[in-house]
Amino acid sequence: MPQNNSHTLSFAAQLKQLDRLLCASRPLWQNRSFECTQLPWAEDFPTLAKAVWQLEDSQLDEIDACQSRLNELLLPSLHEDLLAAGVDWNLSFLLPSSLSTADTSIDTATATEPLLDFEDMAHFSAHIKGRKWQQITAFSAKIPASNLPVLEWCAGKGHLGRLIAKLNQRSVTSLEWQQSLCDAGQQFADKWQLPQRFICADAFDAQQQQLKKEQLAVALHACGDLHVTLLKHAKQAGTKQLVISPCCYHLIKAKSYQPLSSVAKESELKLSRADLQLPLQQSTIASEKHKQYRLQEMAWRLAFDSLQREMRQVDEYLPVPSIKLSQLNGSFEAFCRWAAASKQVVLNESIDWAHYQTLGYARQRLTRRIDLVAHLFRAVLEKWLLLDRVCYLEESGYRVELSEFCANSVSPRNALISAFK
Ligand SMILES: C[S@@+](CC[C@H](N)C(=O)[O-])C[C@H]1O[C@@H](n2cnc3c(N)ncnc32)[C@H](O)[C@@H]1O
Repeated sequence: MPQNNSHTLSFAAQLKQLDRLLCASRPLWQNRSFECTQLPWAEDFPTLAKAVWQLEDSQLDEIDACQSRLNELLLPSLHEDLLAAGVDWNLSFLLPSSLSTADTSIDTATATEPLLDFEDMAHFSAHIKGRKWQQITAFSAKIPASNLPVLEWCAGKGHLGRLIAKLNQRSVTSLEWQQSLCDAGQQFADKWQLPQRFICADAFDAQQQQLKKEQLAVALHACGDLHVTLLKHAKQAGTKQLVISPCCYHLIKAKSYQPLSSVAKESELKLSRADLQLPLQQSTIASEKHKQYRLQEMAWRLAFDSLQREMRQVDEYLPVPSIKLSQLNGSFEAFCRWAAASKQVVLNESIDWAHYQTLGYARQRLTRRIDLVAHLFRAVLEKWLLLDRVCYLEESGYRVELSEFCANSVSPRNALISAFK
């Protein structure tokens, strides 16, 4: 596959390239797998269809958990189908080397080196879960040196802000809407006599007064609209520096994605909330028992779906509420009766439960394969979303850097956008 030169292109040009790839490949990733009764793209991608059915069920999670293995197993087949069709999507954009936002000028090892002396660190990190502490120390290491006061957006207990205040004796304002988190955070800060104060406020407040020009605004994992709101307020206030790590792109108020940059606004892509969950879909290491429960639940839900379509004579998916894990230790029939009652579906007297259970497992095998192929595009979609934010900031007069602040194993949401006026 040809290599690409994305790292030498402007952010806007990179966004356009990824946009072309995502638009062309929509049938492979923009589908509702649980509604399908066959591979929806099998006719146009026969080699890929064969390859995905050749994978053992027991391999799927392991492949899904490792992007390079997924690419290695499926991209050659996709490439073959594209060649046969005489089209070129430039699949090299799917390779991790072109999607990585890692900044090679920064040694990622330095990010995890202790920033405090040993004793302070032990006390400081005592209330913070291991992964969160690693994220915070890595994030802090990427904060530009300056004396600008800091605004920590959607701070939770303000762990990040506290470390920033401690490391540089910088004044930090931590904005968070849950009073209990503000109280807990303020107590920590007071105990350490740090220049950090909490403001219990709603980040969506249109009258948001907290963003200033002479300021560094930071946001670690502020979800969807929360970090987008920060970008918009910062643009308005002319805030000098921003360092944010976006997450949960699907947590938005609008029904579909509202592009930010002019490049993304011109795109033909229309992204639903379900599409926006794609970047977050990656199998994680789970115990064998939990894996089995997940697969069983998926099969039972799909089985009930087949059943309810026939009972209601309506060929439409019907979402069922979340279940208790204990229900999976009961019988399939009991699960279906509970699901039917919760959705007011009337069941016939005589139901061939084994038949529907078999259907459910067949649909589960299919769904997992449709999702696996869609996952070839999860990192591209995430990069597209990140570049939309980056380009929006550039268009608002910022110089922007896109990098990674921690290893993927510490957090898969490891992208960092740094913007400077
Ligand atoms: C995913 S947590 C991240 C917390 C912290 N930055 C961290 O990384 O540990 C998101 C935080 O945003 C807060 N939040 C949610 N909606 C908010 C709003 N409308 N205004 C202010 N904070 C909000 C939540 O209470 C939560 O503490």
